[in-house]
Amino acid sequence: MSTYATPVLTTERLVLRPLTQHDAPALFTVFADPAVVRYWSAEPWTDISFAETAIARALESYRDETDIRFAVELADSGELVGTVNLHHFFNQNRRCELGYAIASAHWGHGYATEAIGAALEHGFSAVDLNRIEADIDPRNAASAVVLEKLGFRKEGFMPQRWLVHGEYADTVFYGLLRSYWDERKRKI
Ligand SMILES: CC(C)(COP(=O)(O)OP(=O)(O)OC[C@H]1O[C@@H](n2cnc3c(N)ncnc32)[C@H](O)[C@@H]1OP(=O)(O)O)[C@@H](O)C(=O)NCCC(=O)NCCS
Repeated sequence: MSTYATPVLTTERLVLRPLTQHDAPALFTVFADPAVVRYWSAEPWTDISFAETAIARALESYRDETDIRFAVELADSGELVGTVNLHHFFNQNRRCELGYAIASAHWGHGYATEAIGAALEHGFSAVDLNRIEADIDPRNAASAVVLEKLGFRKEGFMPQRWLVHGEYADTVFYGLLRSYWDERKRKI
């Protein structure tokens, strides 16, 4: 039986852990940044209460074990630099969706790839998923690079799927099967 509890995971440079109420200021900094939400289906946060609400929802999902929501922090300093989520679980089909964001001050250091890699390994090995999906804006080049580095394959294109920041935005749909993940691990 699958469990959607959020554990603590460690990588070479990062700790992935459940969010706490103390994370509100750092979380607000990440999502108040227009660059971070440029291709996100939401406006930049304008008040710390947005972070408090998001954390309250995360705490609820920890209690009910409905979503896996990680804060990503630097192992050295403890600074929160982003989030990675496994959500929208379809238990019967052993699949879920992936979401992630890294604070723009920390882009380009491989943190997304490292953090998402740990979350995916947890999803396939501990949660016994068979498939993880990601929906990204085709203009979000860095996000596509991260997904493809991790073995996701492009599966489809859906025009004008979202209305965000006053304009319609397309979706490129990616999928990662457990078999791709296992094959990638064998090659590393
Ligand atoms: C997408 C995102 C998570 C990447 O975080 P990151 O920590 O910088 O990612 P990494 O450093 O692991 O990898 C980024 C890769 O994209 C590449 N890249 C960055 N900008 C790029 C661009 N404009 N065009 C092509 N490649 C680009 C980098 O070179 C790197 O690849 P490399 O390792 O082969 O050099 C980050 O940009 C982000 O949080 N964006 C806003 C939120 C978001 O869009 N989330 C995804 C939508 S659900």
